[in-house]
Amino acid sequence: MVSSFFSLFTCMAPAMEERRDAIEEAPVPRAESDRGVSVAVDGGGGSDRGATSEQSYGRVAVIGSGNWGSVAAKLIASNAAKHPMFHDEVRMWVYEETLPNGEKLSHTINQTNENCKYLPGIKLGVNVVADPDLENAVKEANMLVFVTPHQFVEGICKRLVGKIRPGAEAISLIKGMEVKMEGPCMISKLISDMLGINCCVLMGANIANEIAVEKFSEATVGYRQDKEVAQRWARLFGTSYFLVSVVQDVEGVELCGTLKNVVAIAAGLVDGLDMGNNTKAAIMRIGLREMRAFSKLLFSSVRDSTFFESCGVADLITTCLGGRNRRVAEAFARSGGKRSFDELEAELLQGQKLQGVSTAKEVYEVLSNRGWQGLFPLFTTVHEICVGELPPTAIVEYSEHSPNVSIMEGFTQHYY
Ligand SMILES: NC(=O)c1ccc[n+]([C@@H]2O[C@H](COP(=O)([O-])OP(=O)(O)OC[C@H]3O[C@@H](n4cnc5c(N)ncnc54)[C@H](O)[C@@H]3O)[C@@H](O)[C@H]2O)c1
Repeated sequence: MVSSFFSLFTCMAPAMEERRDAIEEAPVPRAESDRGVSVAVDGGGGSDRGATSEQSYGRVAVIGSGNWGSVAAKLIASNAAKHPMFHDEVRMWVYEETLPNGEKLSHTINQTNENCKYLPGIKLGVNVVADPDLENAVKEANMLVFVTPHQFVEGICKRLVGKIRPGAEAISLIKGMEVKMEGPCMISKLISDMLGINCCVLMGANIANEIAVEKFSEATVGYRQDKEVAQRWARLFGTSYFLVSVVQDVEGVELCGTLKNVVAIAAGLVDGLDMGNNTKAAIMRIGLREMRAFSKLLFSSVRDSTFFESCGVADLITTCLGGRNRRVAEAFARSGGKRSFDELEAELLQGQKLQGVSTAKEVYEVLSNRGWQGLFPLFTTVHEICVGELPPTAIVEYSEHSPNVSIMEGFTQHYY
């Protein structure tokens, strides 16, 4: 099954020639337009229309239907509708909610082809089928796309144990990590371990609302061993406005996506303090340095070159300029730290979830378990501000806490 799928993929993606440098692939090129997808499906009944051989192509389930989950479904649906290597229908699992008008969210998505709560005004593609039943959504899929807030993944995986197709592959678009007794656990590893399947990651400078209106951007797929699988994911997501590269550094890619949310909190605090662009750039530079040092201390396999991919410096920049973590942290600083992040998240994000505060806590747990706080003053300070141990102004008062050992590659001694 898998070999016939891969041969088809290989012959349809001749531009993906191997390069010998650390950045392994040119972005996936797209000659055709991605617009005008028009594939009739049955709106919820599980159409097999367009199927050639059940065994020969990728059948996709998107697990999650928030802001990014909905955009991911749109990207995937445009490719699934036109490439014979993918089944037309894309199942999207919806964590069911009742809307203010009394209708179920999944029903409304199937009626209107829009996610009116998390991505209003954007057509997802008529081949997207919203499904509130998790087991049903995944039962025929051999390509599982995980895209929920990270705090829900473990519970979702528990429900999926023994329920997924043999030979299925997964990819995680989720930013965050879990801290267990035995140490930190990346979300892709959690999925792999719990479900016994391979799991790649896709991260990048990807503010969902901008990709939803087809503004050009890039993303990075990180893989562990199987490059063909990574290329298949790149083909599933890549469009003329969404260029996807692949790199063999799953931990590096995932840690970039995870840790930049902590730096974005710092950037938002700086904005809330009206500190200006120089300060914000300094925070971003220090943050990037801590991201790299932390990643390499946890996983020696992490590559420096990964930080120059979309998942690295590009995602850091976009998140510090425009993301939700920045926005809520700015409001927190403007309140002088008097309003809680939970309260501001509920008020400003209307159901969307903040990742930076919980990630800062998870990172802090790793730092304190390993005695590394002194090496990571920015990460440490962000957490201590988030939990009210320090005022927001502490974000620019930590020069006296600068790391005093050279274990952090790229550490610059400041003189003043
Ligand atoms: N939004 C972006 O711009 C963006 C971009 C890149 C990556 N991401 C990452 O994608 C992941 C998903 O984010 P999103 O933007 O799609 O979601 P979101 O924050 O917009 O929405 C929250 C989602 O969680 C669901 N949910 C609420 N309670 C739940 C529960 N108990 N169990 C399961 N699901 C529940 C909601 O139904 C909703 O679909 C996150 O890890 C995020 O960091 C987001």
